[in-house]
Amino acid sequence: MGNLMEIIKGRRSIRNFLDKEVPDAILNQVLEAVQWSPSWANTQCWEVVVVRKPELKQKLQETMSKGNPATKSIVEAPVILGICGKLESSGYYKGQVTTKFGDWFLFDLGLATQSLCLAAHDLGLGTVITGLFDHDKAREILQVHAGFELVSLIPLGFPAKGSGAPKRREISEFTHYDSF
Ligand SMILES: Cc1cc2nc3c(=O)[nH]c(=O)nc-3n(C[C@H](O)[C@H](O)[C@H](O)COP(=O)(O)O)c2cc1C
Repeated sequence: MGNLMEIIKGRRSIRNFLDKEVPDAILNQVLEAVQWSPSWANTQCWEVVVVRKPELKQKLQETMSKGNPATKSIVEAPVILGICGKLESSGYYKGQVTTKFGDWFLFDLGLATQSLCLAAHDLGLGTVITGLFDHDKAREILQVHAGFELVSLIPLGFPAKGSGAPKRREISEFTHYDSF
């Protein structure tokens, strides 16, 4: 296990992958990172579809929005993870929303996704979160059940080449003390 700050800062979105399979034991460790993510009242609303079949990856690639820089990686990566969430569970109590933000499934999936991407990076794998695609078409391809939504597709594999880190805002630009 590497140094946490190094893992956080060293993770990059990877859009080019080697033609090399991800062993099941390694994939399982990545899924373990999802398993141990925090969630609203421990709701664990996530569901993950592991896609390895080339014909399915091809169909998923066709759902990518025009100009999405990750389009090629949907067929190039050996594994695509379809991150899905159960609706009306996270942020709900006895079927009623509990906060003004309603359904917190996107928040919980975001946390699980970050765990997944950091664990993958620590294991020497690359990921890129993709959110810019036709969600309804992709949802149909993966036969996601009613009451669940497919939120992102994450290519996973051994990185072929990395890219530089996009610039970050300074801490002083987003941190406020005592009032906004
Ligand atoms: C919710 C979300 C959706 C994203 N969707 C896409 C996408 O559709 N295509 C893509 O190439 N990158 C996508 N990204 C990756 C971001 O562009 C990337 O994280 C950002 O530029 C910072 O670069 P880094 O991940 O290398 O630090 C997405 C990231 C997030 C968090």
